[in-house]
Amino acid sequence: MKLLNGEILANKKYGENLYKLEVFSPYICRNCLPGQFINIKCAYEGMLDPLLRRPFSIYEIDKKFNVFSVLYMVKGKGTDFMARLVKGGMLDFIGPLGIGFKADEEIKNYLLLGGGIGIAPLSLIAKELMETGKNIFFLAGFKDEAFFLWERDLIKIARNYKIFTENGSFGQKGIPSVYLKENMHLYKNYKLVVCGPKEMLKNIQGILRDFPGIVADALMEERMACGIGVCMGCIIKIKKSPGGFEYKKVCTDGPIFNLMEVIFD
Ligand SMILES: Cc1cc2nc3c(=O)[nH]c(=O)nc-3n(C[C@H](O)[C@H](O)[C@H](O)COP(=O)(O)OP(=O)(O)OC[C@H]3O[C@@H](n4cnc5c(N)ncnc54)[C@H](O)[C@@H]3O)c2cc1C
Ligand code: FES
Repeated sequence: MKLLNGEILANKKYGENLYKLEVFSPYICRNCLPGQFINIKCAYEGMLDPLLRRPFSIYEIDKKFNVFSVLYMVKGKGTDFMARLVKGGMLDFIGPLGIGFKADEEIKNYLLLGGGIGIAPLSLIAKELMETGKNIFFLAGFKDEAFFLWERDLIKIARNYKIFTENGSFGQKGIPSVYLKENMHLYKNYKLVVCGPKEMLKNIQGILRDFPGIVADALMEERMACGIGVCMGCIIKIKKSPGGFEYKKVCTDGPIFNLMEVIFD
């Protein structure tokens, strides 16, 4: 992990409040694993508001041109600052952070399920899985058509996917967890990798209780302060047998955890 500066090559609007930031960084392109993230400084030099860096998953890595990207939604002060960054400027960030995703040699089939901006880290994981010869099926769910352009990136990686929107404006009307519940029998020999809002993760955990053999990784996106394991701001509860639990830091122990071991309070 390093404190880095990378030239901004593009900051494209991808949809309503959705942007893709492309940054030149040979270090990140050489050293980052899918599932890892960077902590971005969201204030100009000398400014202290917002004080804390903001965490973002790596969305794409182009090793040939040493360019990585971050797909982000504008939520508050930090992401509003990011949306105003322009080509030619420098991005101040720390990374790569967290423990990256590694494909399981024993498992051939992966079902990736992303809700909203949760599709960002899963896209790079999907690419890695395809490149290592795994069979993947990608399920994605959004509120509306804001993620319309994302499908263009997805089809470069995977052809087996289903997109749902709550209002039916893009893809099929519905939500992926309902589809999963009704079709879980088709995916009994798949490993799941999921990322999205806590409610969605909790729902999927409930569905999987009826399928005890299924293994599922969850990428947790707790709010963070330091991002490097010092402040304890990102702790979650993880089941520990028999009947107990332990605290884990999402930034340094995660962000990937066994979904069935996460305790959602
Ligand atoms: C490991 C990790 C990876 C992430 N990857 C991405 C990514 O690839 N793309 C992306 O758009 N976002 C990602 N996020 C979430 C992103 O960090 C937050 O949206 C961002 O920090 C918000 O900053 P802000 O200053 O704009 O908003 P703030 O002013 O800090 O918050 C605005 C609103 O967003 C909510 N919020 C802020 N952070 C989170 C969070 N972590 N989870 C849920 N709600 C939150 C707040 O409760 C508040 O309601 C990731 C978070 C983590 C921990
Ligand atoms: S964000 Fe500080 S310990 Fe995880």
